[in-house]
Amino acid sequence: MLNSKLLVALDTPTLPEALALVAELRGLVGGFKVGLELCSAVGVPTVVAAIAAAGGSVFLDLKLKDIPNTVAGAVRAIGSNFGGSVRMLTLHCDGGGAMLRAAVDANQSVSPRPLLLGVTVLTSMDAPALAEVGVADEVESQVLRLARLAQASGLDGVVASPHEVAAIKAACGPGFLVVTPGVRPPWASSADQRRVMTPAEAVAAGADYLVIGRPITAPPAEIGGSAAAARRVVGELGAESG
Ligand code: C5P
Repeated sequence: MLNSKLLVALDTPTLPEALALVAELRGLVGGFKVGLELCSAVGVPTVVAAIAAAGGSVFLDLKLKDIPNTVAGAVRAIGSNFGGSVRMLTLHCDGGGAMLRAAVDANQSVSPRPLLLGVTVLTSMDAPALAEVGVADEVESQVLRLARLAQASGLDGVVASPHEVAAIKAACGPGFLVVTPGVRPPWASSADQRRVMTPAEAVAAGADYLVIGRPITAPPAEIGGSAAAARRVVGELGAESG
């Protein structure tokens, strides 16, 4: 029983903890999101190689942002060093069009290439926080502006709240991928996530992939462990046939 839309966030401080989750979940989910915490602790090549060797595909959430030449170099290094193990890679849309296009160009030289996903507005930022950095717009307008920039620059999609999926699909079309964290099964606590949707609601809103962390990596005791939690979510979404 598998649903490849489901990506599990491995927000663990050590590699053995991450690998234990990969071993438990790899036949149930589409891939594993690793980010700055684990990569800073262990190193990107080590993390990617270990997860790939354990049979998991990697969503590398590095949120790249720098001058175009430097980001292009990082994208080239990731694409060419990891032989297709990195399925998705994130970068900040507000690095600007030149940076995004440089990343897309660098990624063309790689086969199979990772999907490039833009981070629009961090969910930790609200309108006053945007104003602090000189953005006078509401959050949703800024999200849509950056999603359109990402699409015009050749990115494959964006990471966004489930509440923004419908507006992004309306603005950018159905083929532009939207990956959503902020997803909570009905049986899980929302923890520090606000404005959540259930997995089924997020998919109904148009999400292409769901990132779920703690409800699967640290489920409530009565669920019976991470694999049982993942099976429940797959059951709620519908397993893929074949
Ligand atoms: O445990 P939980 O399901 O909240 O984990 C969600 C994951 O998605 C975490 O790795 C979190 O950092 C990430 N994320 C998020 N909201 C965003 C972008 C990323 O929750 N806007």
